Amino acid sequence: MNRMHNTVALVTGAAGGMGRAHCRRLAEEGADIIALDIEAAAAELAETAREVETTGRLCVTGVADVRDQASMDAAVADGVAALGRLDVIVANAGIYSDLGLSWELSDQAWQRTIDINLTGMWHTVRAAVAALSDGGSVVIVSSTNGIVGAAAAAPDTARKHAVVGLARTQAHQLGPRGLRGNTGRPG
Ligand SMILES: NC(=O)c1ccc[n+]([C@@H]2O[C@H](COP(=O)([O-])OP(=O)(O)OC[C@H]3O[C@@H](n4cnc5c(N)ncnc54)[C@H](O)[C@@H]3O)[C@@H](O)[C@H]2O)c1
Repeated sequence: MNRMHNTVALVTGAAGGMGRAHCRRLAEEGADIIALDIEAAAAELAETAREVETTGRLCVTGVADVRDQASMDAAVADGVAALGRLDVIVANAGIYSDLGLSWELSDQAWQRTIDINLTGMWHTVRAAVAALSDGGSVVIVSSTNGIVGAAAAAPDTARKHAVVGLARTQAHQLGPRGLRGNTGRPG
């Protein structure tokens, strides 16, 4: 299949499990990839690029922390300059930590997850949406935990519900521009 032929997709958290899988799958469908992740994951990010390139597609990698708007702006601009366009944003980067009873978490634990998994996704869209081509798509990764509660991951479950609201609002805001906004909810 070649449903993404001649498109470019941006994926955050691209060095890791599902981020790398999103890159590979989009490339198998014909997309070139802008793959972003943090410095500490540089070796794994290079492996993602190798896997994308085995499909015959291009992969531009970039180091950016989704908590840092300036680093996201720069990495997205570099990727779009290198590949010439942008059609899909996959805001995927996230951590799964800070488990336990919600009322026993520290401020720091709560904020760590919210900063990466919620604010980071907003930063990702903010950095890239202006570059989207007509018909482009924004996908924010939520979860089945964006539908129901989870026993042990209060900040992440809260943010997975929150990004559904963010994506629904963005869908209203993107629609008049001929763009789409959705969440993905892996189980
Ligand atoms: N694995 C699951 O079962 C599951 C289920 C539902 C939803 N999700 C969601 O899918 C997404 C990916 O999950 P995964 O299981 O592949 O995670 P993972 O831990 O395998 O990969 C996450 C990636 O995000 C990167 N990352 C972490 N902090 C970052 C930061 N500050 N800036 C940029 N990149 C950062 C990591 O380096 C890593 O490459 C997450 O948003 C997660 O909440 C995962």
